[in-house]
Amino acid sequence: MAAKRILSGMRPTGKLHLGNYVGVLANWVELQDEYDCFFEIADWHALTTGYEHTETIPHDAIEVVIDWLAAGIDPERSVIFIQSDVKEHAELHLLLSMLVTAARLERNPTLKEQIRDLHLGENVTYGHLGYPVLQAADILIYRAHAVPVGEDQLPHLEITREIARRFNSLYGEVFPIPEPLLTRFARLPGLDGKRMSKSVGNVILMSDSPEEIEKKVMTAITDPQKIRMGDPGHPDICNVFAYHRRFNEGEVSQIRKDCESGRLGCVSCKKKCASVIASYLEPLRERRADLEKNPQRLVNILKDGASRARRAAGETMEIVRKAMKFQRLEDAISG
Ligand code: TRP
Repeated sequence: MAAKRILSGMRPTGKLHLGNYVGVLANWVELQDEYDCFFEIADWHALTTGYEHTETIPHDAIEVVIDWLAAGIDPERSVIFIQSDVKEHAELHLLLSMLVTAARLERNPTLKEQIRDLHLGENVTYGHLGYPVLQAADILIYRAHAVPVGEDQLPHLEITREIARRFNSLYGEVFPIPEPLLTRFARLPGLDGKRMSKSVGNVILMSDSPEEIEKKVMTAITDPQKIRMGDPGHPDICNVFAYHRRFNEGEVSQIRKDCESGRLGCVSCKKKCASVIASYLEPLRERRADLEKNPQRLVNILKDGASRARRAAGETMEIVRKAMKFQRLEDAISG
């Protein structure tokens, strides 16, 4: 039996940070062993909030692809492509947009947050409202069985599932109802304990040099009650400890003991943490450097990905058009 399929995507946000890696990307890398994987750069999705400034999108897309490959996404096994290279997504988006009400999309909590945070008020465009419908098209056009995403994407995925059920009940069973695949590891906090995000400025990038990593980790907020060495610390509320937990499994229980007893001071704990993260990322940094030296390889990977994605998307669109009776138009004319 053929392996089950997954589709996932990221918007072209430029270089990725450790939160992206731990929360989503590391999971994708592992899933390649088990599934047929499609990984998409959602450049049309970037337009929903950024349509006035499109000039940075191609460069930011490339940076994301490089981080994917550096992390171990394997272009032989997985299909890596740019959404706008596969026009079929736009056709399916239009068809699916009929199957969801505007009221349903207006209730989407992610949209409400964006309206609040970006002060959009009445300025929400038709395309922005349709963000989850385009995402549904991305997923359903590959008839994906599962979608590995972070928790923040669950409201969107729920809309995809509703649209798929609606399509199937109206036109016949075409789409599997895709399941979310959440990462096991809890979210990695930013240096300040807030959600790691470039707009907050509290990130460690996957591509940061050892020096940059050390500089950043030294600024991380630890347990506010541990002021000097000798004070007992509380690792469970410490951001640096969260990094040790993810990247320094071998030493984490000793670090907990030494922090709680006061024997380990924050400065040396941070130095250790920075060096562990830096060596974890070293092979990724090397792969990134190789890719940057060989841009043609990147172009070839994306061309090949686009053609494999188009083939799969084209097969689904044949089925969709037939299910919706568009092929009967010719019969109607000739008969
Ligand atoms: N909405 C996703 C994000 O903001 C990006 C995305 C676009 C996506 N299409 C997708 C994710 C399809 C999973 C499946 O990160």
